[in-house]
Amino acid sequence: MTEAAQTPNRPQKTILRALAGETQAVPPVWMMRQAGRYLPEYRATRAQAGDFLSLCYNPELAAEVTLQPIRRYGFDAAILFADILLIGQAMGSKLWFAEGEGPRMSTVTDAAGVAALRPAAEVHETLSPIYETLKILKGALPSETTLIGFAGAPWTVATYMVAGRGTKDQGPAHEFITRDRAGFAALISALEAATIEYLSAQVEAGAEVVKLFDSWAGSLKGQDFDDFALKPAQRIIAALKARHPNLPIIAFPREAGDRYIGFAKATGADCVAIDNSVSADWAAENVQKDGCVQGNLAPHHMVEGGEALVSETKRIVKAFSKGPHIFNLGHGITPDADPENVHRMLEAIRG
Ligand code: CP3
Repeated sequence: MTEAAQTPNRPQKTILRALAGETQAVPPVWMMRQAGRYLPEYRATRAQAGDFLSLCYNPELAAEVTLQPIRRYGFDAAILFADILLIGQAMGSKLWFAEGEGPRMSTVTDAAGVAALRPAAEVHETLSPIYETLKILKGALPSETTLIGFAGAPWTVATYMVAGRGTKDQGPAHEFITRDRAGFAALISALEAATIEYLSAQVEAGAEVVKLFDSWAGSLKGQDFDDFALKPAQRIIAALKARHPNLPIIAFPREAGDRYIGFAKATGADCVAIDNSVSADWAAENVQKDGCVQGNLAPHHMVEGGEALVSETKRIVKAFSKGPHIFNLGHGITPDADPENVHRMLEAIRG
């Protein structure tokens, strides 16, 4: 028996073991957007719900789509089905999804707009169905499957709240910073407070791990990265760990490049998720030395499949094999992915 196997406090679930720093011969695996449009059963349940937001706010159906990829593939983790923009809606911004185009929001563009947002303590009113989804999942998941909750990081959510939509370069949020840095900092601070309440309630409802998605962290440079990506993550993680001392937290400062280095240490995260713009060998050397990493297969392999999918999957497993690793994609699986390719990826990982 290894030393780890004799430790009485050693977690049973593979994802929790990786997050506790254990190196495993076969890494645990899940996929971002594993419940999504590439699955026919997801499309059927979404049609039953009516639209995407109605699905997010319907606990029975949101739990059902969360479970679908677990039944089909036996992933090691299930991620709550919801969206990072719901918190903006809970704070008072209008949110809707334009069919085939993506999210739309009413805009917050100045300090007065920030001041008009609802305080953190009031977000539960809108978000309580999300906690119901987690409670259902807690009772429905197989005993070996870890339940992951999540929120968007303040910067990424702010880019949508400021622009009212997704943008290529997050220009409107950068423009807000240039025009009124203190006003923008107040928006980040309001989002931080709301995110702490939201994630804490998710943990109380059954989430065993939480993940902070900072999808647009890569567009912040220098001091802006420190002020609007790193420090907010650090404060959110510190507040959550004060309330839930054993809670493992995954941070995903997507496309952070060199700033992935030291991010876990600086923020207190237990794991850093890596996108596929950096190589697994580089991340193993520079990021995994501080603890668990998650990633980082390019999502296009799930569309194309073939020998490249298998060899690339095996190459990533090998690159990260000397330390704690959770296998995942570098970003969400896309609607045009072939569901059979997920089986091929799992076969390449688990043998
Ligand atoms: O990983 C998961 O499956 C958990 C659930 C989840 C969704 N979105 C479901 C979803 C999570 C964690 C997200 C995160 C999210 N949402 C991010 C950050 C991560 C990332 O992918 O970069 C962002 C920026 C959003 C905002 C958002 N939601 C956009 C831009 C879109 C439209 C994208 C598109 O392809 O139309 C969504 C919709 C969305 N969120 C879908 C899903 C499954 C597709 C909705 C549908 O059924 O039409």
